[in-house]
Amino acid sequence: MDISNIRNFCIIAHIDHGKSTLADRMLEITGALKRGETKEQVLDSMELERERGITIKLKAIRMKYESESRPYEFNLIDTPGHVDFEYEVSRSLAACEGALLLIDASQGVQAQTIANFEKAKDAKLKIIPVINKIDLPSAQLEETLKQVVRLGFNENEVLKISAKNGTGVKELMDEVVKTIPSPNIFTSDKNAISKALVFDSFYDEHRGVIVFVRVFEGSFDRHNNVRFLATKAESRISEIGYLSPAEVIVNEIHEGQVGFIATGLKDLSKARVGDTITSGVKDPNPIPGYKEPVPMVFLGFYPQDSSKYTDLREAIERLSLNDSAFTYDPESIGSIGRGFRCGFLGLLHSDIIRERIEREFDIEIVTTSPSVRYLLETTKGDEVVIKSASEYPETSFVKNIKEPIARADLYSSVKYMGPIMDLCKERRGEYIDTAYLDDERVKISYNIPLSEIIVDFYDKLKSLSSGYASLDYKIIEYRETQVSRVDVLVAGDLVSPLSVLVQKSNVFDEGKRIVARLKDLIPKQNFKVSLQAIVGGKVIAREDISPVRKDVTGHLYGGDVTRKMKLLEKQKKGKKRMKRFGKVDIPQDVFWKVLER
Ligand code: GTP
Repeated sequence: MDISNIRNFCIIAHIDHGKSTLADRMLEITGALKRGETKEQVLDSMELERERGITIKLKAIRMKYESESRPYEFNLIDTPGHVDFEYEVSRSLAACEGALLLIDASQGVQAQTIANFEKAKDAKLKIIPVINKIDLPSAQLEETLKQVVRLGFNENEVLKISAKNGTGVKELMDEVVKTIPSPNIFTSDKNAISKALVFDSFYDEHRGVIVFVRVFEGSFDRHNNVRFLATKAESRISEIGYLSPAEVIVNEIHEGQVGFIATGLKDLSKARVGDTITSGVKDPNPIPGYKEPVPMVFLGFYPQDSSKYTDLREAIERLSLNDSAFTYDPESIGSIGRGFRCGFLGLLHSDIIRERIEREFDIEIVTTSPSVRYLLETTKGDEVVIKSASEYPETSFVKNIKEPIARADLYSSVKYMGPIMDLCKERRGEYIDTAYLDDERVKISYNIPLSEIIVDFYDKLKSLSSGYASLDYKIIEYRETQVSRVDVLVAGDLVSPLSVLVQKSNVFDEGKRIVARLKDLIPKQNFKVSLQAIVGGKVIAREDISPVRKDVTGHLYGGDVTRKMKLLEKQKKGKKRMKRFGKVDIPQDVFWKVLER
């Protein structure tokens, strides 16, 4: 394909604003899908045809489109829509020349859309503003149009479509041809050094690691070897292809094109997102922006039923094969049994993995309190990474400790600025800047310790802004801090998973808050349970849970059997998610809830 006829773009949209529906309409118009057929159905049918699992991700779709009798190649690249995947978003954008900014006419511009719109602008993409769902009776076209204009567009640039019934979609595709630039031509020499950006990678059981790439220079041929500049991995190419959405195998992909390369590599960590690949003898200059994934938030994953430990290990191994930002180490703290200390990019990343383990592998897990990644220097001069409070040594061994600091951008309506700034201040935030995006919306920037935003910050932000405000963050540096370890004794027994690192200046208040919160969270037992917060062997706070009679149905009168059964059933269910520490059963969500302020 002539490079001047290629258009590489993505869709920026808030969840449910119609990204997937629009992609389906485009695929129908270009004949890649039959009316009513979905991308997923096509992939499923291919899987049957091949009689072997094809696990390819729908990361980029190629379409052939004709405009004014000229053939064009569209590559629609999918971008993850999540704050924890800031880096992956930036690499997907780097593979494109343009973006469609898709806005639901009944919802208007959402804060998260602005965050991604800003990233697309920073990546110097040509942006086409599109209002979707104009067929809806609840569409607020005028108001939405005004909002889009406030983002800096002219009214006449804004396209109005219905992805559902197809209105305006063809016009949109013509606009893509007209206004999104074709890829830059770096060389016209076919034998030039080849160079491509990896914008996604995953592991396929049959073909090994498959990378999605955008070629920037030269070409890749299926008889070549491929080399990764950052990881130095090298292997023979086994297949080159693209998705349309069915898989199409080709001999080569060249400058400006997008496609996938099956590398045969067995280890995903050798084929990282953001890395530059080449097939030449000489290394090209790497494409800027590469970063290694560093897990920033750590949680303990323990099987609810300890006999499932091996199953959990297998599940974790399997999932980490396809996610190089997800790390794990065996761990065993206190009496909770054997489990794993798992590292994630952020809390939502951890939620995704936990859910997959529970749903796909049917293993219930108990998670312990999250911790960030601290860097500790011992008095002997050793550097140690601390991933949980239980790893924190005695104070006399600690020379200094550093914590990760995030640059947080909070997008909000002007009217919620006050409460948002109060929240940031309360969380040790250091104010950086306020930028007015238009007369209604602001972006407020703070430097905030990551430990202050990983537990309940997002929920608080959402509730104080009626769901409007949104958060985008990235780690910018490590800073020295002063922490102490608070341990908790429940009925005299140390419950290690409840240990936390807190700000030294705040230990007494935190100790009090923790035991008071536990008093509400731990169910009454048939004996009195003492709760003590301890720092350096000294009790700093105490509460008691008064006893209750064991038979919960005891207070029900006479013969209401069904009600009794229901209650016992409920009690049994509640029990399922408990873990025994010494004499006391602690519900699994306590480890989490105790940290919420
Ligand atoms: P995520 O992938 O979850 O982020 O959602 P999405 O942005 O891909 O949205 P999706 O295409 O799944 O659409 C969300 C809902 O909006 C679906 O129920 C669609 O049928 C509906 N929808 C999408 N476009 C239109 C439209 O033009 N008109 C109407 N009436 N509904 C639409």
